[in-house]
Amino acid sequence: MMDVDALRAQTPGCARRIHLNNAGAALLAQPTLDAMTGHLRLEAEIGGYEAAARAREGIAAAYAAIAELVGGRSREVVLFDNATHAWNAAFYSVPLGRADRILTGRAEYGSNVLAYWQAAQRTGAEVAVVPNDRHGQMDLAALAAMADERTRLIGVSHVPTSGGLVQPAAEIGKIARACGALFRLDATQSAGQLPLDVQAIGCDMLTGTGRKFLRGPRGTGFLWVRAAALERLDPFVAEIGSATWDGRQGFTWAEGARRFGTWEHS
Ligand SMILES: Cc1ncc(COP(=O)(O)O)c(C=O)c1O
Repeated sequence: MMDVDALRAQTPGCARRIHLNNAGAALLAQPTLDAMTGHLRLEAEIGGYEAAARAREGIAAAYAAIAELVGGRSREVVLFDNATHAWNAAFYSVPLGRADRILTGRAEYGSNVLAYWQAAQRTGAEVAVVPNDRHGQMDLAALAAMADERTRLIGVSHVPTSGGLVQPAAEIGKIARACGALFRLDATQSAGQLPLDVQAIGCDMLTGTGRKFLRGPRGTGFLWVRAAALERLDPFVAEIGSATWDGRQGFTWAEGARRFGTWEHS
């Protein structure tokens, strides 16, 4: 159980205002502010790489904490500068062709929709929108009827940006498993607000942001990718953070989800 009074006492912004915009960006807690300003000061004093080396344990703990938050493993987590880039890293790594289909819902996040259209234009894959049921959530019967062997990906926003809808993620996961599709859950508005368990949900990729219900800083996001799904994905950019050059004309991907990440980050 969370102690709301203690959390409020830890959050300096609570002293002077009632701030309800956690779905935009939440108020920072004092320990977060101290960690950020302390690290910036350290970077200014000893250099960015040297400060990162000193913070190694804390950074590793962030991977472990995110893994615990979603019910996965540290090596399945990679950090990003926002949820959109995390989502893009996963989405643009899904091999798609003319025979393939992406299924998504009517309450999908705008950037995700744009990426679907772009992928459809580039690859010839079809994007099909599953209708809502009478409650306004994804119609599970319609999804089950539309999901077939052509379905490469089912993409859903767990809690859409506005409106309070919570999609039935675990039921969607069952349908994805039954048809063999990858299931990518955008948990940007649910991470920190609702319990998440990637094993119970059955998703293959999950993305989130730091600044909303996790009360982290802006410019932070994360991607979790199920280890078993790695071989079905072709990471969209090889760079020195995601891959190691073999000295000739080849390379090997970084371990686990790190193959989707970038060398430089905050
Ligand atoms: C459902 C959903 N997905 C993705 C995002 C994008 O997150 P970010 O701004 O961290 O890239 C948002 C932002 O509000 C969102 O509401």
